[in-house]
Amino acid sequence: MATGLILASSFVLYLHASLKRMKMRRHRVFLLCTVGLCVISFLHYYKALHYVSVLRELSAPYPNIKSFIMVSGLFWKDRPFPLASTEPSEAHPFSMQSFSMDVRRSMEVEELFGSLHQRIVKLQDDTTSYFVRTKAGALCFREGTEMAAPKEDRMVSSQRRMLQHREQEHTFPAKPKRGKRLVKCVCRQGWHGPYCGVPTMVYHSSLPTKDRLTPREVPRRIINAININHEFDLLHVRFHELAQAVDLFLVCESNFTAYGEGRPLQFLHLLLNGTYDYVRHKILYVFLDHFPQGGRQDGWIADDYLRTFLTHNGMSRVRGLRPDDVFIINDADEIPAQEGILFLKLFDGWTEPFAFHMRKSLYGFFWKQLGSLEVLSGCTVRMLAAVYEDDGIKLRRREYYSMPGFRKYENDTGHILVQWSIGSPVHFAGWHCSWCFTPEGILRKLVSAQNGDFPRWGDYEDKRDLNYIRELIRTGGWFDGSLQEYPPSDAKEPMYAPKYLLENYDRYRYMLENPYAKKEALTER
Ligand SMILES: *[C@@H]1O[C@H](CO)[C@@H](O)[C@H](O)[C@H]1NC(C)=O
Ligand SMILES: *[C@@H]1O[C@H](CO)[C@@H](O)[C@H](O)[C@H]1NC(C)=O
Ligand SMILES: *[C@@H]1O[C@H](CO)[C@@H](O)[C@H](O)[C@H]1NC(C)=O
Repeated sequence: MATGLILASSFVLYLHASLKRMKMRRHRVFLLCTVGLCVISFLHYYKALHYVSVLRELSAPYPNIKSFIMVSGLFWKDRPFPLASTEPSEAHPFSMQSFSMDVRRSMEVEELFGSLHQRIVKLQDDTTSYFVRTKAGALCFREGTEMAAPKEDRMVSSQRRMLQHREQEHTFPAKPKRGKRLVKCVCRQGWHGPYCGVPTMVYHSSLPTKDRLTPREVPRRIINAININHEFDLLHVRFHELAQAVDLFLVCESNFTAYGEGRPLQFLHLLLNGTYDYVRHKILYVFLDHFPQGGRQDGWIADDYLRTFLTHNGMSRVRGLRPDDVFIINDADEIPAQEGILFLKLFDGWTEPFAFHMRKSLYGFFWKQLGSLEVLSGCTVRMLAAVYEDDGIKLRRREYYSMPGFRKYENDTGHILVQWSIGSPVHFAGWHCSWCFTPEGILRKLVSAQNGDFPRWGDYEDKRDLNYIRELIRTGGWFDGSLQEYPPSDAKEPMYAPKYLLENYDRYRYMLENPYAKKEALTER
């Protein structure tokens, strides 16, 4: 820029001098104007050049992302975005003529991002026909009901013929009166209740209202909110496990680590390059572009703030919410099982807030830990607003009964609200897989961990050693040198790991069997 100014001003001086020499007073004003215009257009041209080089500099290693963040910082503020649509805006408000190709390309990406992190989504109703009416007149949950097997097994076919169903495309059958059900659904293994819609994890849960569950005519919409760092494999697992049951995923990414340092927007990169295209229409991208004050000194502030921002920003961009829709906030390493979420979606009669009992494991599913992890993580949209002030961290804190709005909310609903948990310590309703990364991923988690959960192992050089980390994975040990007790686990046991992982065993082998145990057996021989 400095050379540009010097060049420009010497140009002005030169013209000034010639002016004096020629003493053309009458043309002075005109010439000065011309000079002014020259300088302005020169500076403009220079600025564009300068811009391009800055963009080039910033472009590695995530070419489009860094540059459009810079550009969008300048331009995205007053952008109109499409209401009531999940499509990215196609209107292009800028004239691109004076920009070079590089700039233009980054502007196009910025356009996409500009609408991406501010996009408004409108919830639609899920029109899937989850229930069928059997010939005999019973209303049954399709997935949980034993349907007639067409060719195989003719022995029981006469009994099953009763269950032959006709499709109920868009009309929902009238609710049968309780106590007058003469025809029953025949439930598949793992499903219970008169409609075969209660999965084992609910059947064996602490739900006090199990005998008052009725299928809904219109499913609730389920919103699942998470913060993402680099749990990209577990994110695929979540999407595959839950895409059928969840209507909208709020995924929040920050360009700061929980420790307060810069990080690339890796999830955004993957979102834009097509990695999550199979579920993209259900993802709302939430971008946290700042680090909370005091978050460096007290890491818990940063940790909480992630959830607060995720909920506030994400929910404020959702339209068409109904009070009885469901909000669930998870950590990226907590994956609820689909069956439990479908139950919440399709049935009335459960109470809130609700938790999940999750199978606990460390480094991979092979190191199963004792008991279950019970995390309070869901409630209706109405309760989220009335009791938790739309703040997901308040929901996770288990203090609902002392929240100022709780008594009023409970009174307004006309029910006594008790927290319940889907699943039990032996009937898991999901998976919590801590530190389930390759050794490099564990190292990354160590150094980006928040500054408050002490001891902070990322501060110790010996703990950051990859061989040390491999040894921890091999033995199931912890950074403090302790060895835990692990109950035996077998990849064939029920709820060992989410289905998607087991179906793609080779690709995710590192999480499914101890990668270092076998080598030990070989070398010891
Ligand atoms: C994060 O993004 C915001 C907005 O673009 C920017 O102001 C901030 O400097 C970025 N922070 C880091 C660490 O890159
Ligand atoms: C997206 O980017 C990631 C990381 O750069 C890469 O591994 C992956 O193959 C890319 N996917 C597609 C579909 O281009
Ligand atoms: C409880 O609800 C009833 C009616 O539903 C209302 O009249 C009453 O004022 C409510 N009480 C409180 C404390 O909100």
